[in-house]
Amino acid sequence: MPSKTCNVVVLLSGSGSNLQALIDSCQGQDSPVRIRAVLSNRADAYGLQRAAAAGIDSVVLDHTQFDGREAFDAALMARIDGFAPDLVVLAGFMRILSGGFVRHYQGRLLNIHPSLLPKYKGLHTHRRALEAGDAEHGCSVHFVTEELDGGPLVVQAVVPVASDDTVESLAQRVHHQEHLIYPLAVRWFAEGRLRLGEQGALLDGQPLAASGHLIRS
Ligand code: GAR
Repeated sequence: MPSKTCNVVVLLSGSGSNLQALIDSCQGQDSPVRIRAVLSNRADAYGLQRAAAAGIDSVVLDHTQFDGREAFDAALMARIDGFAPDLVVLAGFMRILSGGFVRHYQGRLLNIHPSLLPKYKGLHTHRRALEAGDAEHGCSVHFVTEELDGGPLVVQAVVPVASDDTVESLAQRVHHQEHLIYPLAVRWFAEGRLRLGEQGALLDGQPLAASGHLIRS
């Protein structure tokens, strides 16, 4: 048994397949990860059903009910902090976060993004990789900073692009890799192996490469 469990709060807006991968990966007594709660800005997010099925507390906070980003983010922080998280995990949370929110969780806020960052920040990453004729695509886990999709990289999975790939086929293979690298990064953090240093992400006290830990399938 780990000496201390790592309380994780997961934020999502949609399907929650990355939440499911995290739930599946922390079954069992030897996991240091405890998913304490799931928060969604959308009441219809399927991820809420996944949380309920796993017996995890969930909260819906509808951003349309707030007067601007700062007000929503302040309410979101209050709800998150009520669960006393050691780590906050963005798993398809499709909201741009304010600087105040990001600074509040500095060093304990992770995101997953469906591209090999710094390539293709933002949306439609699979289509953009195909249109550019890239031979490789993939996904990235990074610490969140105030730069959108721009914080220090922790781990990337590289996915070869096939000549007959469509947006859907490529997205499916990238998604599969997301479900491997996010639990890995969260476990590293929970074990105290991963942290954000002044110059970037550190694994076992050593600086990670600019691309993070690289996994090739
Ligand atoms: C994932 O592909 C994740 O990388 C992406 O949203 C999807 C959520 O899927 N996140 C972003 O694009 C953030 N910029 P899921 O709800 O099935 O986990």
